[in-house]
Amino acid sequence: MFAVDSVSVTVPATTANLGPGFDCIGAALTLYNEFKFTTHTQEKVTITVTGAEAERVQTDESNMLYQAFVKLYEYLGQAPPPVQIDIKLGVPLARGLGSSATAIVGGLVGANVLAGEPLSQSQVMELAIAMEGHPDNVVPAFVGGCRLAATSNAGWEICEVPWHEEIVPIVAIPDFELSTKEARRVLPKEVSRADAIFNTAHLGLLLRGLETGRGDWLRAALQDKLHQPFRKALIKGYDAVNAAAVAAGAYGMVISGAGPTLLALTDIAHSEAVATAMATAWQSEGISPVVRSLKVDNQGARSFF
Ligand code: HSE
Repeated sequence: MFAVDSVSVTVPATTANLGPGFDCIGAALTLYNEFKFTTHTQEKVTITVTGAEAERVQTDESNMLYQAFVKLYEYLGQAPPPVQIDIKLGVPLARGLGSSATAIVGGLVGANVLAGEPLSQSQVMELAIAMEGHPDNVVPAFVGGCRLAATSNAGWEICEVPWHEEIVPIVAIPDFELSTKEARRVLPKEVSRADAIFNTAHLGLLLRGLETGRGDWLRAALQDKLHQPFRKALIKGYDAVNAAAVAAGAYGMVISGAGPTLLALTDIAHSEAVATAMATAWQSEGISPVVRSLKVDNQGARSFF
């Protein structure tokens, strides 16, 4: 690989869990963060940020994108080059749409390109999973599509989950945040056998429902006993938005990642009505959401010179 001194990396948002697939399934969505890395002659990293909520992003060495950039060089046993980083935000922060996964994947991919691509895709992905602590955001952010990740003796098995083209993901992004740490803190350490069986069966049904687009399977599949019952109390208006989405024709509604964004799956014919119903229901609870009808991104992270 030839050496370059500048690279731009675009990374999609992701929605993790999809209800019953806690910590193991996620899909990339057509909403993006863009990161540009340019080596420079100053001693320190310099970082600029544009886009919504730009002022909230750290612009010193604690920046997560930069931390991931450094991580790859540490893995190689090399010092990172001084670099100028320009961040263009399109993925809302701390809303359950994988903004931190975009930073981890973006930093690792950018560093790997500037270093001459010494690491394979699967090595970079393993580093990303180790940094994030679970695979369900970083894997689809990296490779695109809907993906299931399972540990194996050799590391991780990553499996593509076919997503029927007529299933529309609608995200309702509220004007408040929920930290993943807090949303994980409320989860029980142990679950009953009945609840484990419930989720195993529903995740199996979800995989077949996503592949076939069968509404009866999707309607039953989008249920969970491992995280949502404990998290929904942290999301004001959850029940009202859920009821409104289903009444408007959605197959179901789940928490996107650790929340607070809510994700409905619907068919194309009902997508506008579902989006409007979710927005109206949340507004009547005093919350101003941004509601977007998206698609699954099938490309994942891409770099440009
Ligand atoms: N699977 C994770 C969770 C995604 O639900 O906590 C958030 O990063």
